[in-house]
Amino acid sequence: MSFGSITVMFAQKEHAKYAERICNLIYESALQRGTGIAKRSNEYISAKIVGGKAVVALDGDKLVGFSYIECWGHGDFVATSGLIVDPEYRNLGLAARIKEKTFELARLRFPFAKLFSITTSLPVMKLNSRLGYKPVTFSELTDDEEFWAGCQGCCNYDILQRNNRRMCLCTGMLYDPKQPLEKQSALSPYWIMIKNKISKIFHLKK
Ligand SMILES: CC(C)(COP(=O)(O)OP(=O)(O)OC[C@H]1O[C@@H](n2cnc3c(N)ncnc32)[C@H](O)[C@@H]1OP(=O)(O)O)[C@@H](O)C(=O)NCCC(=O)NCCS
Repeated sequence: MSFGSITVMFAQKEHAKYAERICNLIYESALQRGTGIAKRSNEYISAKIVGGKAVVALDGDKLVGFSYIECWGHGDFVATSGLIVDPEYRNLGLAARIKEKTFELARLRFPFAKLFSITTSLPVMKLNSRLGYKPVTFSELTDDEEFWAGCQGCCNYDILQRNNRRMCLCTGMLYDPKQPLEKQSALSPYWIMIKNKISKIFHLKK
């Protein structure tokens, strides 16, 4: 496999055939990491692809990475979700390319929306920080019930509920197009991770 042969692009209708593989990759990674993840159906992923709301990474005919966007709160917010890279293609900078392309797609389609993501992943926090996202409390994210209902498939959903949706194991990160871009310190994702762990120890343990 050569990194140069991988194309990262806005998904087209014909890429809907990869929906099942994407769901499997997401599910298997969640099992391996032992972390929570919102489960998605083939139909859901397929709709994102057909609706022009997804990014795919292809090595020839093989799907090796994916992510999608969705708008919430009547278009005030756009979430970037479902980032996955085939385990054989990790640590090559592919997630960075997919994140950049997803960011480009979100800004093109919803230029006035705030972009957000919720994640437990350090690589994702790093990449978000580089794009200008900042860590925020859940209260600064969308209050769209349907978005949060998507967390029901996550094994940590009881934690979110127990905290009245104020916090969970994920960190919320927000990009506000109205805020001027500040240079992020390379250490900020690690700092976010540590702060998050500390707050969880004190707030989440019963
Ligand atoms: C998270 C994931 C998308 C990263 O994909 P990737 O293509 O390997 O990431 P990249 O090569 O673009 O690396 C991005 C950065 O994260 C770092 N990184 C990658 N994997 C890492 C890991 N397991 N632990 C810590 N840092 C990691 C890289 O070193 C790089 O940082 P740098 O630019 O400072 O060197 C991939 O591991 C994956 O699909 N995991 C399972 C699904 C998942 O966790 N999705 C996120 C859900 S929110």
